[in-house]
Amino acid sequence: GRGRGRGNPRLEFEGIQPGSSDTVEIPRNYKQRVVVRWGDPVLPGAPAFDFDNQTADAQAKQFGYNCDYVGFQPLGRDRGLLWVNHEYTNENLMFRGYTDGGSADLEQIKIAMAAHGGSVVEIRREDDDGDDHGWGHGWGHGWGRGRGRGHWGRGKRSGAWRLSRGRRRFNRRVTASTPMELTGPAAGDELLRTEADPEGTRVLGMLNNCAGGMTPWGTILTCEENFHQYFVGGEGVPEEKKAALARYGLPVEGDTRSGNRRFDRVEERFDLSRHPNEANRFGYVVEIDPYDPDSAPKKRTMLGRIKHEGANCRVTRDGRLAVYMGDDERFDYMYKFVSERRYRKGSRRGNSRLLDSGTLYVAKLTGDSPAGEFDGSGELPSDGAFDGWGQWIPLCSDSESFVDGFTVAEVLVHTRLAADKAGATKMDRPEDFEASPATGKVYCALTNNSAREPGQADEPNPRGPNRYGHILEITERHNDAGATRFRWDVPIVCGDPEDPSTYFAGYDKDKVSPISSPDNLTFDEAGNLWISTDGMAWGNDGLFAVPVEGRHKGQLKMFARVPMGAECCGPLITEDQKTVFIAPQHPGDGGTIEEPQSTWPDGEFPRPSVVSIWHRRGKDIGSD
Ligand code: FEO
Ligand code: CA
Ligand code: CA
Ligand code: CA
Repeated sequence: GRGRGRGNPRLEFEGIQPGSSDTVEIPRNYKQRVVVRWGDPVLPGAPAFDFDNQTADAQAKQFGYNCDYVGFQPLGRDRGLLWVNHEYTNENLMFRGYTDGGSADLEQIKIAMAAHGGSVVEIRREDDDGDDHGWGHGWGHGWGRGRGRGHWGRGKRSGAWRLSRGRRRFNRRVTASTPMELTGPAAGDELLRTEADPEGTRVLGMLNNCAGGMTPWGTILTCEENFHQYFVGGEGVPEEKKAALARYGLPVEGDTRSGNRRFDRVEERFDLSRHPNEANRFGYVVEIDPYDPDSAPKKRTMLGRIKHEGANCRVTRDGRLAVYMGDDERFDYMYKFVSERRYRKGSRRGNSRLLDSGTLYVAKLTGDSPAGEFDGSGELPSDGAFDGWGQWIPLCSDSESFVDGFTVAEVLVHTRLAADKAGATKMDRPEDFEASPATGKVYCALTNNSAREPGQADEPNPRGPNRYGHILEITERHNDAGATRFRWDVPIVCGDPEDPSTYFAGYDKDKVSPISSPDNLTFDEAGNLWISTDGMAWGNDGLFAVPVEGRHKGQLKMFARVPMGAECCGPLITEDQKTVFIAPQHPGDGGTIEEPQSTWPDGEFPRPSVVSIWHRRGKDIGSD
């Protein structure tokens, strides 16, 4: 029974400064705890983590590497299911003396395969640590005062989450070997058939799962991104397959083995010269039911095959489901899926086929300012805004293709090629999407694009080169997620506020934090946008928050900073607004075990982990 409008509309926390340290930095009055680390036991029988005696068997039962998307489903007030993507592996930080996949032990390659995928872990919230300025103190003062009671009266609400002990029936590991189903219109198509799977409906594993989202019925959408890097191929790839594979960066020429992880040394399917269709079975949105650890993950072909970053849902005016998706590559596109059938509230079973039929769209954006006003300097056009209108161009439904020369299955497997033909707008690496719970407007992080030439700047991508990225805001017609027309606007052009090409929704630039390479997004309940970065130009990456409506619109502040070499993934604010989870991914990136750049969080070797952050007096995230 919590209505809208809770949360802190003013983001009163005291912003932290950009900088570098091998720690997680947070604002005053906040506390933090590592919830789960690479190697922590997930499944029954998992051995304690032993860095110098790793095995693939152990890793398949332990928490995987490089945490990216974090999803959360409450199980009552103080328990929950945490879903975490394990995007990829940094072998030179996992194994002493590692050089490359060609010389790696086969067991190391198998460990890396088991460290990919994702995890479901049961977590529970415990009493705070008893810091004397913390919960206990605040409780005494707040109790009995009418004003404080709203917060204090609900009992302990800290964010001190840790792994549950005892029976954990939902815990699960998904890896590069987990059996999965291909579903939707392309399932079974010739393009998806291989020697090992002549039906084209079963695939082993998911790879490079980056961001994601949750459906309104409580399942996880986890998104395969840079899957091209797991394959070798070269000249032996059949000539007629090369163009489509190359559009996804798959290796069809030259030396494709050096610098590769060489999964093909363990499983031949990763060699495209022998199994060219295997790569067509990666690059999907995968739906996983965290409440059913025995269910097969479903690769939903209806949502297209791209380098999927995230998948975020809104319900349309007439009750269908819309899913917004970015394809994270320079000059690639933004997509939307709208289901054919209505979403049935509260029914996991009733919604289990919802993502298999509907329409897949790609975005075309047109600026409404005078032509010729974009020279790549980022200067605002004469009408005072980077904005315009847009359309969602249908690529196919489950039964009909709208792109000449493409079958439905071809649109869904060679989605980038179909979108090229449809005339979609080339964007600056569309990463995460998120809809505001307060207004329904949808936001996309365009992370950067160093390859955009000054002459290629346009209104939706107003800088060339775009070193620091920007945020795009989409307002669907009639605020209906099912609409095919929208207005768009660029409220934030990232960078150092002293750089004249930056823009913070018109807010006083003396009062905003620098930010670059926006990547993952989330919202608090009050409708403030939270942005995490992958490539801060001024110190370590971090998590930022900014109001996108009202008097403080554009007042961007830094909330958290991650350790050396890490990008800041997650982020996720729990429904009760008391915890924010972040996932410092690849701490120590760029170093080695022998010459560590990071030893976070334990002081030995870096371990990608999930961290919970909460207000020491139990206030909503964003409060001072
Ligand atoms: Fe895996 Fe686009 O970041
Ligand atoms: Ca990302
Ligand atoms: Ca997100
Ligand atoms: Ca990124």
